[in-house]
Parts: sequence; structure tokens; C-alpha cells
Amino acid sequence: MKNLTLSEGIQMPILGYGVYRVSPDECEQCVADALRTGFRHIDTAQAYFNEQQVGDAIRKSGIPRDEIFITSKVWIDHFGYEETRASVMESLRKLQTTYIDLMLLHQPFGDAYGAWRALEQLVQEGKIRAIGVSNFYADRLVEFCNFACNDFTAPDGTHVKGVRPAVNQVEIHPYHQQTELLGWMKKYDVLPEAWAPLGEGRDGLFDDPVLQQIAQQHGKSLHQVVLRWHIQRGVAVFPMSRNKQHMADNMNVFDFELTEAEMQQIAQLDKHRSAFFSHRDPAMVEWFAQMVEVRRNPNHNPDDEKRP
Ligand SMILES: NC(=O)c1ccc[n+]([C@@H]2O[C@H](COP(=O)([O-])OP(=O)(O)OC[C@H]3O[C@@H](n4cnc5c(N)ncnc54)[C@H](OP(=O)(O)O)[C@@H]3O)[C@@H](O)[C@H]2O)c1
Repeated sequence: MKNLTLSEGIQMPILGYGVYRVSPDECEQCVADALRTGFRHIDTAQAYFNEQQVGDAIRKSGIPRDEIFITSKVWIDHFGYEETRASVMESLRKLQTTYIDLMLLHQPFGDAYGAWRALEQLVQEGKIRAIGVSNFYADRLVEFCNFACNDFTAPDGTHVKGVRPAVNQVEIHPYHQQTELLGWMKKYDVLPEAWAPLGEGRDGLFDDPVLQQIAQQHGKSLHQVVLRWHIQRGVAVFPMSRNKQHMADNMNVFDFELTEAEMQQIAQLDKHRSAFFSHRDPAMVEWFAQMVEVRRNPNHNPDDEKRP
């Protein structure tokens, strides 16, 4: 497995397994299957309502805790210094661990500054190893790196050292390659993580003729080619799958290499727009505000989260 090195020399497997929209009922089994397949990096979030099941699967796997890299994300309802601190304690309890490897601010809304200060202090206390953000576009990321990451004095009088985001997890796939954002992230030493690395197959991605042809040339699947493309760009990926064969295929992407010409061919596929939505769309910002209410109900159905 190839690793990416986060700040402080922390090693993060570049390939992991994501559990967005994996229901609490199926999550423990899916994570157990992923661990058996060889995945050692699990990407969850408070807003996925499955941290408990991720923790159950990891505990029952018998794999030493320090061999598994766990990422979770603070939901916007828990932003603000006190709320974030309390929510991370709850995540630790559900994940059944004494530390989280990487904790992200899930969305660029609300009191992200207060939330960040709580995360910085939790790093100092050893409850989190690294911290980052998600869905921060270039302007917001640059603002955050310049204004949010300063030393401060915590309410209990502790001097807390400012920390810059180690990663920014954003939508990246061949139809939305985010090249400009990646340039800004490089400037600020923020490592890229791709959400929806396969674009969830949207806009016909799984039938793309260029990707199909490259896949055929390597005797690999189109999905393996896409994951390999991310890895060669230095982008961390954690494809979701409920299918054990797909999990195995997704793991098996280290025995071939795309040529420079193939990387260039894939670069041409960029549509320069999201296959999902823009976090700058005011209607979407309103939708996120509604989601705070909707997700307060732990029995809500993710399929009811109709976006505008
Ligand atoms: N930070 C954020 O805001 C954010 C947002 C979205 C996602 N994420 C993270 O990113 C992870 C991945 O994103 P995602 O789940 O939205 O989308 P994705 O990984 O791009 O796509 C998942 C879809 O691809 C299919 N698939 C996976 N591997 C396959 C293979 N080898 N062959 C054929 N089909 C395959 C899966 O179906 P099968 O089950 O049939 O394999 C599933 O329908 C999430 O689980 C989550 O951890 C983060």
C-alpha cells in the first residue's frame, strides 16, 4: 500500500474505504468485508450515522488499532468550540477508540473557526492525530489557512498551537478534476482527498469510451483505471462499495501504471463542473441549513435528503 505523509510524519494509506450512505444496518458487515479485503483506512463522518458500526467492525476484526487509519468528520450542527469538542468525544465513544487519526470539518459553513480551535486543542491533547477540512473551495481554503490557524489560549488557560489543515476532502473524479484547487492546496501543503472518486458513475462516467479503452489496454476495469489515475496524481481515495468483488478490484490497483499519454487523455475528460452541486449555490446553502434539522433525527432516511 502506498502512503501519503501528513504533517508530523503521520502515514495515511492513499487508498481506503468510504461509508457514506452505508446504512447502520449494513455498515458493520461492509466494513468487516473491507478490512478482510485488505483496506486499512476507513472514511466515516458524524453525519453518516454509522461511526458506532465502524467501531464495532474494527473492534471485532482483531486488527491492531494502530494498523487502521480512521477518518471522521464534524457535522455543521456541532460547529463551535464547545460543541465540536463534545462531538469529538462522542465520536471517540462510538468508534471505540482513544484517538482518531484524522478529523475533518465536513462543510465550510457555520462557526468553522470555533470548531477548528477545538480540533487544534484535541490534537495537542492526543485525541486526534491530524485535522483537515472538506468541501473548502480555493478562496475559503486560502482564507482559512491565513486567518483560522493561529495559536490561541483555550478557555482553561492552555496555550494551543495553531495547525493548518493537513487535507482538504473535495469532489474529484475524471469529469471534475479540480486542477486549479489542487494548485492552491499544494501551495499551502494541504493534501487532496477525493470524495466520490468514481463520481458515483454520474454523467455516464462508467461508460466513458476513453476510460474503457485505457482499461482494456491494461486488462483492468474502468473503475481500477480511475482509482489508479487519482493515485498517480497523489490524491487519496476511498471508494464505497457494498460488493465484495468490487472491493477486491478497488484494492488491486498497485500492479499497473498509466502512461503519461494516458494521464493526458484522462485530463481531456474534465468538464470543469461538479457532477453533484456547488457549495456556493445559495439554494444549496439553504439545503444544508435544513439538513441540520433533518439529521438531528437519528432515524431519518438518507434517501429523503432530496437536494434542490
Ligand atoms: N466529504 C464529503 O462531503 C463527502 C461526500 C461524498 C462522499 N464522501 C466520501 O467519499 C466516499 C466515496 O464516495 P461515494 O460513495 O459518494 O461515491 P464513489 O465511491 O465514487 O462511488 C460509489 C459507487 O460506485 C460503485 N462502485 C464502487 N467500486 C466499483 C467497482 N469496482 N465496480 C463497479 N462499481 C463500483 C458502487 O456500487 P457497488 O456497491 O455496486 O460496488 C457505488 O454505487 C464516501 O463513501 C465517503 O466516505 C465524502
